[in-house]
Amino acid sequence: MPDPRKLLIVYHSQSGSTSRMAEAVIRGASHDDIENVEVRVRDALEATPDDVLWADGYIFGTPENFGYMSGALKYFLDRIYYPCLDQIGGRPYALFVRAGNDGSGALSSVSRIVKGLAIREVQEPILIAGEFDAARLAECEELGMAMAAGLEAGIF
Ligand SMILES: Cc1cc2nc3c(=O)[nH]c(=O)nc-3n(C[C@H](O)[C@H](O)[C@H](O)COP(=O)(O)O)c2cc1C
Repeated sequence: MPDPRKLLIVYHSQSGSTSRMAEAVIRGASHDDIENVEVRVRDALEATPDDVLWADGYIFGTPENFGYMSGALKYFLDRIYYPCLDQIGGRPYALFVRAGNDGSGALSSVSRIVKGLAIREVQEPILIAGEFDAARLAECEELGMAMAAGLEAGIF
């Protein structure tokens, strides 16, 4: 078997709602049908530049706070930006966001920053805004699975 492809999932959740999305994403990425992908999960406050350099692809998750990504995900991007700049260009990423009623600021703030890192968004972001819709956790699971399957198949 070739060396495993590597997927890094970095997210933050203050009150647990984004965690529910993350758990579904992780479940999808760890699906039994995917045999040759190593999944590493990190809280945004703990993920390091080494984690980012290690991975072949990324999934980021955040709530929207004050019209922006969470401070924790911003702090992660602040810490990894220069150590990873010019080293991860072209790698795929996807994003999921939980918001009380909007979410657009979280989506746009992440997109803007990762543009500088030149990573490629390969799936539509998932936004769950308003009342938590557990039915949409299936989409989160699909997002995780599609990212892992795409890495494994060499599509990304
Ligand atoms: C400090 C703070 C600021 C927030 N600002 C926004 C906001 O700008 N837009 C929005 O839609 N929801 C906002 N919310 C609501 C959160 O996005 C929502 O409660 C989300 O479910 C929190 O995710 P978590 O449980 O993973 O921490 C805010 C919540 C907090 C605590």
